[in-house]
Amino acid sequence: MNQAQGLHKAVKDRALSRKKANMSSNNLPRVIAVTSGKGGVGKTNLVGNMAVALSRMGKRVVIIDADVGLANIDIIFNLRPEYNIRHIINAQKTLNQVMVTSEHGIKILPGGSGFADLTQLGEGEKLNLLSEFETLSDQADIIFVDTGAGISSNVLYFNSACDECIVIATREPTSITDAYAMIKVLSSDYGTRYFKLIVNMVDSEAQAKNVYASLSAALDKYLNNVVLEYTGYIPFDRKLQAAVQKRGLVMDSFPDSVAAKAIEDISLNLGNTPARSNADGSLTFFMNKVFQAAD
Ligand SMILES: Nc1ncnc2c1ncn2[C@@H]1O[C@H](COP(=O)(O)OP(=O)(O)OP(=O)(O)O)[C@@H](O)[C@H]1O
Ligand SMILES: [Mg+2]
Repeated sequence: MNQAQGLHKAVKDRALSRKKANMSSNNLPRVIAVTSGKGGVGKTNLVGNMAVALSRMGKRVVIIDADVGLANIDIIFNLRPEYNIRHIINAQKTLNQVMVTSEHGIKILPGGSGFADLTQLGEGEKLNLLSEFETLSDQADIIFVDTGAGISSNVLYFNSACDECIVIATREPTSITDAYAMIKVLSSDYGTRYFKLIVNMVDSEAQAKNVYASLSAALDKYLNNVVLEYTGYIPFDRKLQAAVQKRGLVMDSFPDSVAAKAIEDISLNLGNTPARSNADGSLTFFMNKVFQAAD
């Protein structure tokens, strides 16, 4: 048995023992990747603010910061984490010791540079991570994965491992082209079919719909097995920038702002619609896919 097969078997055995323990798969968290082709389009702010909106709706939310670049979800939550995923991989800390909890009760797993090394992990390290990730299943309804930008293999395999994939774009042509490139590689190389589009930093819904129309047209022409669902837009709002300046979230600092209201609507919608899933919705499946992609 090679390493990948061994790990696969370990994952299956664990899934079986969970079944025996009578854990319904209906209770498993939704794992949602938030991604973009181009950087700086608002992923981290969207994840943070959606997490707040959903936790106000009573959902238990966990955020995995898988951005290996300038990981900054902790900044807008004004948290200063001591540890990161590397400490779990090395079995120095448990997941619950590494995660930090915001004042809203949202749990955040800081990535640090740990995620960049996933491709290099040995089997023991992978199993450490896997068994710790399993403990998340009972603690979350929704898990957001804030991926980095661009189509590096790290970003790609986090996206491909999630149940759902939200793509953020702005009206800038580079952002639209890069979003297309991201969808293209995820669909052709990883078999991801369903995507949700959120358009950020626009002045009107008409502008957002234009972005959706141009992306859809390109997808229809060249990638006809992909489904892109328009999921809403967030207006350009200086209040959001003012909140970031204060290491905060627009949802907290300016709850009546247009950006906060828009994110609230999107979150409400997301929370109330069943997942149109790319995967079988389990966390072990998520980690297993991450590791398979890394093999
Ligand atoms: N709706 C908005 N209105 C105005 N400014 C915005 C909006 N959304 C994001 N921004 C601005 O864009 C900046 C970048 O946002 P954010 O860090 O969330 O993007 P990102 O996609 O996570 O970036 P990276 O690719 O670097 O991780 C924010 O600090 C904020 O100044
Ligand atoms: Mg970010």
